[in-house]
Amino acid sequence: MAKEIRTIGVMTSGGDAPGMNAAIRAVARACAYYNVKCIGFYRGYQGMIEGDYCVMNARSVRNIISRGGTILKSARSKDFRTPEGRKKAADHLTEAGVDAMILIGGDGTFKGGQIFSKEYEIPVIGVPGTIDNDIAGTNYTIGYDTALNTVIDAIDKIRDTASSHDRLFFIEVMGRDAGFIALNSGVGAGAEEILIPEENLGLDRLLESLKRSKRSGKSSSIVVVSEGDKTGKNVYQLADYVTENLPNYDVRVTVLGHMQRGGSPSCFDRTLASRLCVKAVELLLDGEKNVMVGLINNKVTSTSFDKGLSGTHEINKELLRISDILST
Ligand code: F6P
Repeated sequence: MAKEIRTIGVMTSGGDAPGMNAAIRAVARACAYYNVKCIGFYRGYQGMIEGDYCVMNARSVRNIISRGGTILKSARSKDFRTPEGRKKAADHLTEAGVDAMILIGGDGTFKGGQIFSKEYEIPVIGVPGTIDNDIAGTNYTIGYDTALNTVIDAIDKIRDTASSHDRLFFIEVMGRDAGFIALNSGVGAGAEEILIPEENLGLDRLLESLKRSKRSGKSSSIVVVSEGDKTGKNVYQLADYVTENLPNYDVRVTVLGHMQRGGSPSCFDRTLASRLCVKAVELLLDGEKNVMVGLINNKVTSTSFDKGLSGTHEINKELLRISDILST
């Protein structure tokens, strides 16, 4: 029979994402509702390894639903990749009386959870939190919607100055291995071209598209580039390449960088975080373990770590076609 869950630990790990605080709040409040003790670990796996934790009650999470970042802080722990590190973490969980863990983070966090759950008898549940939206087993990750809105807001501002000066802007957005942010913000902000890691359309096509847009009378343009795009050139090299080949363009580059990870979470991300984390607590109390929660077709679901981590979250390439049509 599964061990009774009396204490649940929670942590945030990997790149922070807006809505992580709403997620922590939902875990702490759901624990209070179900009379379960809640313990927050600082800096993800690193806090588990170092025994850096605090007891959380319903009031510990007051007024954080609207705050960006994570009150538990985040880290990418190298030590947790070693068996010795994981042993220390397991020992500290035992010392703190933790019966189960909720891990809020991206695929790196889930991989850590998958290994840990195979080595130790501590049930874990993953909650997808990353701006990249690159996790199978959910249509949306916590933080993605807010990041998209941040990007759109920034691109709209850049469009103002691009238009005033008749310039071409290359705007780099985050997404090391995934083009979700680039593709959706590119369509939403009316970009001329969108470069994503999933589809290398080639440099010739870029030049052709820019020539076409000049001919059609456009005086300014926006090209959105995912940081992981596969053209073989970084955003500055792309700008140089276009300047060399199309000298009638006045080219500038903006790298949006970490501003995309900050800010108050959108209503969508707060609601998503709340739904997923209440479910995570309830699943643990029902004896479930070693799964991730996600939102699929607007239903909260659970998927085993093994399945979630071996699957891929496909980008909607139809959006590239839409973008093509609309940038005419
Ligand atoms: O959290 C995901 C992400 O923001 C990626 O889009 C980006 O490539 C990476 O994290 C940046 O990581 P760091 O904060 O370590 O620079």
